[in-house]
Amino acid sequence: MFEKMYQSAAEVASFTQRQPESLPATKAILNQAVADLSVAHSILHQVHWYMRGRGFLLWHPKMDGYMEELDGYLDEMSERLITIGGAPYSTLKEFSDNSQLTELPGDYSLTMEAHLSRVVEVFRYLADLFQKGFDISDQEGDSVTNDIFNVAKASIEKHIWMLQAELGQAPNL
Ligand SMILES: [Fe+2]
Repeated sequence: MFEKMYQSAAEVASFTQRQPESLPATKAILNQAVADLSVAHSILHQVHWYMRGRGFLLWHPKMDGYMEELDGYLDEMSERLITIGGAPYSTLKEFSDNSQLTELPGDYSLTMEAHLSRVVEVFRYLADLFQKGFDISDQEGDSVTNDIFNVAKASIEKHIWMLQAELGQAPNL
């Protein structure tokens, strides 16, 4: 009995010990998300400003909601990164240099469909990234980060469904 308890305590000790100085891949994917969410916010702002056409009164404020949601993930993932001993990117240059998303100049001539398709493209990238974050944090045993990525992915996938429905298409996740 005593031996069993001791064994269990040793297991707990070894688990807590590996937290602070490990999780290298989890830190890397969290920082990737920091860069990508920052650039994604910028792209959504551009859509918010440059859209013209039917649906403007609905989609213009909708972009505000998306930006607010992404900002929430950005802050949560940055702060989780700090909590596990990492250092989030924190300058516009770092966000831009490290993001995999490509920014384009603003264009008033784009149709509303083109703008919404662009948002779907960004959200698909984020959903894939969050899946990677889920898998990596799972492999490294960081259940808190795992939960953050899981919740974020579920919501982004729902937005993809709704945007695709607006575009007359299946979600195609
Ligand atoms: Fe605005």
